[in-house]
Amino acid sequence: MRRYIDLIEQTFDLPTEDFKVDAQGLYFHDVPLMDVVKEFGTPLKLTYLPKISDNIQRAKRMFNSAIEKHDYQGKYHYCYCTKSSHFEFVLREALKNGIHLETSSTYDIEIIRKLHQQSKIDKNIRIVCNGFKRELYKQYISEILNDGFRNCIPVLDNMTEIDYYEEHVKDEYEIGIRVASDEEPRFELYTSRLGVRYSDIVDFYHKRIKKSKAKLKMLHIFVNQGISDSAYYWSELSRFVYKYCELKKICPDLDSIDIGGGFPIKNSLWFTYDYEYMAEQIVATIKDICDENDVPVPNIYTEFGIYTVGESGAAIYSILDQKLQNDKELWYMIDGSFITQLPDIWGLNRKYIMLAVNNWESEYQKVNLGGLTCDSMDYYNSEAHTNEVFLPKINNGEQQYIGFFHTGAYQEAIGGYGGIQHCLIPAPKHIVIDKKEDGSLDYQLFAQEQDSESMMKLLGY
Ligand SMILES: Cc1ncc(COP(=O)(O)O)c(C=O)c1O
Repeated sequence: MRRYIDLIEQTFDLPTEDFKVDAQGLYFHDVPLMDVVKEFGTPLKLTYLPKISDNIQRAKRMFNSAIEKHDYQGKYHYCYCTKSSHFEFVLREALKNGIHLETSSTYDIEIIRKLHQQSKIDKNIRIVCNGFKRELYKQYISEILNDGFRNCIPVLDNMTEIDYYEEHVKDEYEIGIRVASDEEPRFELYTSRLGVRYSDIVDFYHKRIKKSKAKLKMLHIFVNQGISDSAYYWSELSRFVYKYCELKKICPDLDSIDIGGGFPIKNSLWFTYDYEYMAEQIVATIKDICDENDVPVPNIYTEFGIYTVGESGAAIYSILDQKLQNDKELWYMIDGSFITQLPDIWGLNRKYIMLAVNNWESEYQKVNLGGLTCDSMDYYNSEAHTNEVFLPKINNGEQQYIGFFHTGAYQEAIGGYGGIQHCLIPAPKHIVIDKKEDGSLDYQLFAQEQDSESMMKLLGY
């Protein structure tokens, strides 16, 4: 008999840093998933908080050791971009690590205010405010600047944005400019819609910023495809650093660059990515170009979203039933939906690590996973390393649980957590898991499965 455990162990090196299996079933970061399922049921999302701090500390270590190795005279600053998961428990954990924050829209500033009221941040925190801003966002930014958040730095997305701050911010303030990056060659558009045109920036500085109360402190870039060891990424980063050098020569206040987010996470147990090498190459590239241009190196900010919070999350489902729809298409129906609960699967064809939680000793078979909505696209049947999905065969009366892992970033924000979703599929229960000082695990029920009452209210019934 070909057992599921043999298939997985032949394909991957188990145990890994994040996963192990024993007679009780699968463990995710030491969390015995069968215990969680027995206590809380499914469908269920969980967040394992210590992973957030681990990843932040790892990135800080890597950039700081690259800085030391290259005798780089600037500092590294880790920002968390709130958009990847706005939940209070995520921010609470991330903020334990001496980080800064990046915001992307108006209501993010309400989060900043709340965190301050709760004494989780003080007014010295650096807040990098990105995004194309409606008036209320600019108003909120001006208000917190006037209220003493002097390290809040609006990053201009266009050249008229500064007019609002000039009128409403009382004292001198710092600003950044987002440089519009060029898109990857295979993308259908040439230049990002976000940011100011590369060729307009110097002129804009001379004509507008130089005469304003604003000090240009930061240049910002975000490369849509993430930080990859590709000719495209290195060329975008270099072009950006050349612009920093050009501006630094005429603008002495400029002393920082923000290279955005884009560190990836494991989407398969086969995933490899040399984070140390990439951090080192980034630092070395910036230093080489600055040396060549005879300008001091900038402080480096990053805004990692997926990397900060992705690997802390998981979604656990039960298989409700199986359906053989022709000679070879066997469906396992989950008690949730990909479209509504893991929308990147549907919208971006994203792959996650997917594993059986129990029955590893059972024979395996090829399956298609089906979601509960009526949409034909609500399915998952290939993984990052193979075009197939295998799970244990379900013997009579057995319950099969499965998990999607590293799902902690963006899924709630994009799926519209707690709102109205396709076919009124409710948001699943959410458990937050932390490690106590004695090493034991603490489980908190953050939210019950969404109920009909909240939906009826939203719908006006
Ligand atoms: C300006 C900016 N910073 C940071 C991020 C985070 O990117 P990631 O989650 O890939 O690290 C994004 C994502 O869209 C972004 O637009």
